[in-house]
Amino acid sequence: MGLYLRLLKYVKPYWIKLLFAMIFMSLVSASNGLTAFIVKPVLDKIFFEKNASMLFIIPFGIILLYIAKGICDYFQGYLMGYVGQRVVTDIRNILFRAVQRQPLSFFDKTPTGISISRVINDVNLIQNTVSDTLTAVLKDALTVIALVFVVFYRDWKLAIISFLILPFAIYPIVNFGRRLRKVSIKTQKSVARLTAFLHENITGQRIIKAFCMEPYEERRFEEENDNLFQTVMKRYRIRALSSPIMEALGGIAVAVIIWYGGNQVISGKSTPGNFFSFIAALLMLYEPIKRLNKENHNIQQGLAATQRVFEIIDREPEIKEKRDAIDLKNVQGDIEFVNVSFKYEDRYVLKNINLKIRKKEVVAIVGESGVGKTTLVNLIPRFYDVTEGSVKIDGIDIRDVKLKSLRENVAIVTQDVILFNDSIINNVTFGQEIDLERVKLAISMAHADEVVRKLPNGLHTNIGEKGVRLSGGEKQRIAIARAIYKNAPILILDEATSSLDSASELMVQKAIENLIRGRTTIIIAHRLSTIMGADRIVVLDKGKIVQEGDHQTLVEEEGPYKRLFELQYRKKHKKVISFEKALKNVEKT
Ligand SMILES: Nc1ncnc2c1ncn2[C@@H]1O[C@H](COP(=O)(O)OP(=O)(O)OP(=O)(O)O)[C@@H](O)[C@H]1O
Ligand SMILES: [Mg+2]
Repeated sequence: MGLYLRLLKYVKPYWIKLLFAMIFMSLVSASNGLTAFIVKPVLDKIFFEKNASMLFIIPFGIILLYIAKGICDYFQGYLMGYVGQRVVTDIRNILFRAVQRQPLSFFDKTPTGISISRVINDVNLIQNTVSDTLTAVLKDALTVIALVFVVFYRDWKLAIISFLILPFAIYPIVNFGRRLRKVSIKTQKSVARLTAFLHENITGQRIIKAFCMEPYEERRFEEENDNLFQTVMKRYRIRALSSPIMEALGGIAVAVIIWYGGNQVISGKSTPGNFFSFIAALLMLYEPIKRLNKENHNIQQGLAATQRVFEIIDREPEIKEKRDAIDLKNVQGDIEFVNVSFKYEDRYVLKNINLKIRKKEVVAIVGESGVGKTTLVNLIPRFYDVTEGSVKIDGIDIRDVKLKSLRENVAIVTQDVILFNDSIINNVTFGQEIDLERVKLAISMAHADEVVRKLPNGLHTNIGEKGVRLSGGEKQRIAIARAIYKNAPILILDEATSSLDSASELMVQKAIENLIRGRTTIIIAHRLSTIMGADRIVVLDKGKIVQEGDHQTLVEEEGPYKRLFELQYRKKHKKVISFEKALKNVEKT
């Protein structure tokens, strides 16, 4: 019931159209009732009394009746369709907005395909309910009312007898409906899982082929698909059973009625016209009631989908803006982590981090894979909120500022490069005003001019989904150009040069040096060449800061940084050399 009322709220803006639709609909239903009603004059006046003038009047009236019915049917169909489609379009927009507003943690937990399935499949089901089924239900219900009126008007005693059988017919409708709703929820879940699986399979084709996993994937798909089949079959079983039960009940009713009604006519208490008008109305009732039963199933399905859609719309994003949030203005770029701890689910990834980064300072964060470097920088644009402690920019807790103003001041090059299925220029300017000179400058600073020159349409070339038409290094340079173009006072580079070769890395290194001038910069890198240029190096281990200082100080301390440094040198020269020698080499370069 709550769901119905909530859906009605979305219908409200279109209530005038809906009102007219319902008026036309009632006219259509009334004309259905009239059709049964005129059976009596047709039989009694034309066939029994052989009244010649009625022979003209009644057929003429029937023609008028059907024309009027046709016109009303057209308008109600159009208007109801309009209202239904509008409501569904609105819900889809609201749902998309809700999905879009979810924090990253939501997307960590929900497979992409499931979210897609919600917006496409579930909304489609609501569409069926609202625009098609609801129309049919209203029309059929009104027709039933009109016909019931005729039935009672013609012979109320007989009507009561027939309707005594009705409760037996209604019980299965309700019962079947409940069972169907359960099955329908299962079906939709199964469809969503299938979509999720497909999405992952198609985006992961390269790896699947490389590992010859096609048979395995096929097996998994078949399993899931079979699951879907089983669930759907349950629905068919319930549906297929409900029709014969209704029909059998109908047959019994008709038999009883003919026996009793025939008696009445034979004994002269009723006319044949009266009886046939009654029977016509009763038989005409059968179709709409049967349809109502079917539609009930569709509605249950739609309601299940509605429930899932509202679940997302109602979901409170964990990352919220305070009502009195302020705008972060004239950012200097002081960043401070005060006693920050963070956990994704239940394992702490960061523990008591205290770190002060002065404006325009360049800080490198180093540490083994998985120690929490990316997690640490993700806290700055509030991709995730701290579990304990706080992050401050220019002394203001970032939870007190408007999200938009915070994120506008942070440019980020993420570890896995994310580009969009759009032109280079739109990827670089991404949401900002397009200034061609600045775009070119950003691209050349990122050493990506060559990338652009090679493309058939230059800056306007579409780079394909996730930038598939570019190489890994090319993608990375475009992502750097995007960060340069954003021109924000705080810059985060998470392994920004990891997929570049030494030559282009050197060039991009220079670009980054250009870029970081005058900004607070946090660089996460494994390569020493990148790290050594930083003002300060912070070494993370197991979620804690274990060392801090500039390169010179850190290599002289016994600790993880020195180990890392030695390791890298060994790798580069493919042989073990003494630490002092390595240090000298580095100083030379
Ligand atoms: N979305 C997530 N949900 C749950 N746990 C996560 C999530 N992202 C990362 N983790 C866990 O948090 C820890 C730190 O991850 P993080 O990505 O910060 O590491 P990192 O230092 O950036 O490593 P790398 O150098 O490999 O990029 C890892 O152990 C990882 O398993
Ligand atoms: Mg990382």
